[in-house]
Amino acid sequence: MTSHSLVPADLAIDLRQLVMTIAHTVDLVGVDDVFHGRRVGMLAREMAIQMGWPEADQLILYDAGLLHDCGVSSTRVHHRLVVDLEWAGAEEHCVCGDALLAGFAPLAHLAPIIRYHHSRWDWLSAQNLPGNTARFANLIYLADRIDVLAAPHHADQTILSHVDEIRNRLASQRGGMFSPELIDAFEAMSQGEAFWLALQPDWVQQYQTDMECYGDLRLIGWADFKQCAEIFARIIDAKSPYTQQHSRGVSRLARYLAEHLGLDAITCEKIEVAGLLHDIGKLQIPDEIIEGQSGLTAHEFDIMKSHSYGTLQVLKRLHAVEEIARWAAYHHETPDGHGYPFRISGDALPLEARIINVADIFQALAQERPYRQPMQPDQIMTILNERAALGRADAEIVSVVADNLDQCHRVALCRE
Ligand SMILES: [Fe+2]
Ligand SMILES: [Fe+2]
Ligand SMILES: [Fe+2]
Repeated sequence: MTSHSLVPADLAIDLRQLVMTIAHTVDLVGVDDVFHGRRVGMLAREMAIQMGWPEADQLILYDAGLLHDCGVSSTRVHHRLVVDLEWAGAEEHCVCGDALLAGFAPLAHLAPIIRYHHSRWDWLSAQNLPGNTARFANLIYLADRIDVLAAPHHADQTILSHVDEIRNRLASQRGGMFSPELIDAFEAMSQGEAFWLALQPDWVQQYQTDMECYGDLRLIGWADFKQCAEIFARIIDAKSPYTQQHSRGVSRLARYLAEHLGLDAITCEKIEVAGLLHDIGKLQIPDEIIEGQSGLTAHEFDIMKSHSYGTLQVLKRLHAVEEIARWAAYHHETPDGHGYPFRISGDALPLEARIINVADIFQALAQERPYRQPMQPDQIMTILNERAALGRADAEIVSVVADNLDQCHRVALCRE
């Protein structure tokens, strides 16, 4: 059997849907303002249109704007990036975002733009970067800073009374932070109230919906989708030093268990990808809750419960992988119906989701947490057995773990 017959050969995902899904994921890190990337994408595209740049470039700028902060997983870092006009620590997420996208062929053209999206024009213009990299990166920088200055004034609808101050502040950087060409276009466009009103959440969402129909009609197959899921996993796992490799470990262990349960090759592939994606919604959980030193308060646990719901909301846009989205989102559901947040039980809870559930518990226990050391395999087994006895984990899957305990431990920690 060739490796090609092991993948869902007929899977075709619209690249535009996939970009929107990554954008949604990246925007979760804004916690209570989850449209930053989508506003930056809209602003960058609209300015490119204003300047008469070619349609293909407008679309590149839209995508670069959507994904520009893909190197930010921590809510703390996100906060730093939106409080000051310039921040000395901004470079790291540019390097990280560049590295994430450079290895993914369908979006690799965005990587150099993301690399320089916090670079000043007076430096950037002297670097001899290839093609349009400097202009495009600087447009993302400007769009990003427009949004950072405007965002605090949307909730109380006071944006129009801050327009002069924002315009003057950015215009003073003509030839400094930003290229004269871009500032001139910005000044011309931003006189009208409409420019600013377009940044309200309802209209940003409408813009996104319109762009989704735009469709560049490129379809990607399973191999690319799987590679993209690895990128998602790296973004998710970068959230905290405590969750490093968590998604990868869950993915590998889930696949290992699925194989030992005799599931067919295609299902094993899909489970592996669901494992990579299961914690997408965690990006919206504040770092302080993830890294809390002493367990969670009841309120913090309520916030935590929203994360697997978030996973479903993000992934459901990808119609072609609806099944994978559900398996991923059900990873805290338990056979007895006492899991969260859907309270699914019995036959309604698919075997694939039960496998990810067991893999998730195993991997988390095998890792260090702020309030405890990593658990040893026998301690993990005790907890899994207790859960199985109570109906809180699938007994058949737990018995596969028991039969292969040391191997499961190595797989969960990505040691082989
Ligand atoms: Fe940024
Ligand atoms: Fe940003
Ligand atoms: Fe989770």
